[in-house]
Amino acid sequence: MSSPAMIHTPLPYSTAKELSDSGVAAAAFPFNYISCKPPAAAAEDDNNEAADEAQIPSIDFSLLSSRNPDNRAQIVRELGRACEEWGFFTVSNHGVPVALQKAMMDACAGFFDLTAEEKEDYMGRQVLDPIRFGTSFNSKVDDVQYWRDFLKVFQHPVFHYPTKPTIFREVLEGYSRHIRQLGKDLLNAIWESLGLEENDMQEALSLKSCFQILVANFYPPCPKPELALGLPAHSDHGLVTVLMQNGTDGLQVMHNGKWLGVKPLPNSFLVNIGDHMEIVTNGRYKSVLHRAKVNNKSTRISVVTVIGPSLDAVVVPAPILVESQKHPAAFRGIKYRDFMEHQQSNKLMGKSVLDLLRL
Ligand code: OGA
Ligand code: NI
Repeated sequence: MSSPAMIHTPLPYSTAKELSDSGVAAAAFPFNYISCKPPAAAAEDDNNEAADEAQIPSIDFSLLSSRNPDNRAQIVRELGRACEEWGFFTVSNHGVPVALQKAMMDACAGFFDLTAEEKEDYMGRQVLDPIRFGTSFNSKVDDVQYWRDFLKVFQHPVFHYPTKPTIFREVLEGYSRHIRQLGKDLLNAIWESLGLEENDMQEALSLKSCFQILVANFYPPCPKPELALGLPAHSDHGLVTVLMQNGTDGLQVMHNGKWLGVKPLPNSFLVNIGDHMEIVTNGRYKSVLHRAKVNNKSTRISVVTVIGPSLDAVVVPAPILVESQKHPAAFRGIKYRDFMEHQQSNKLMGKSVLDLLRL
């Protein structure tokens, strides 16, 4: 949290916003931001291909609370299929007020609009600090910098908030409560789609003290969007991720070995399966690779909420699923806190942390 007595440690690198605003990158694009080959050399490389648009399954959330048991059973089946075939789906009719979504977007935009000195108050010293502003993924260890600034704030079990902009606290409280409930309802339905009882889930994941983190991503216009990336291919660490984005596209998901673009749909959330869901389901519902491209026209903001088990939980494949599947447990367990710390301290690379746990 901000405190006037705090000593500022300036960022070791410029933020993406500073690079974009100053125009220096337009004059000479900084080589340390080059993730992708220039188009002439990229014939064999998928990075620069215009991606096809993904036909992501959509889930009408209101049907989950349907009084008609057949309707609920039907949507639970659809949800299960979306988790199995895509690991990504959109959620409509979720009940999160439009005004609250907009207020959240505005508060995040307001944060990134603070001066560099103000934002440096929130830089954090360690990757698990509850409030952390930064650039790229982990600018100290990334050998290629990503065209992205971020703010990460722990929301649960302990609620944290940046004190600037002043509206942030109130908006975060409301938004996080809504998204946590949405996430838990989805987790219940996902669990049901596997034929499991809610009690098994509480026991396996300690969801009463679930970990919830909010990540605001800021991708300013980039003069050479074909050379840089906002975020490289990765999977998310938690159980499910709930993403809201402004009207600018940039997200791509890996599906059947191809990168597909995801168009932002107004008033609906994009949800994806995280690594801990892959662990607990013993690989039945897999976390999906995704990445963020950048563009040279407008700023893209995404507000990402990751919901995971308790930070103290050691999640292993659910015994009941292991018994019913033909293969033995595919992952060993590790404390969620250690998993996250490992992912956040290293280069972000595909599913590298999950891969360490494969048996
Ligand atoms: C993330 C992420 C994608 C996006 O923050 O984990 O994948 O569209 N963001 O910003
Ligand atoms: Ni992600």
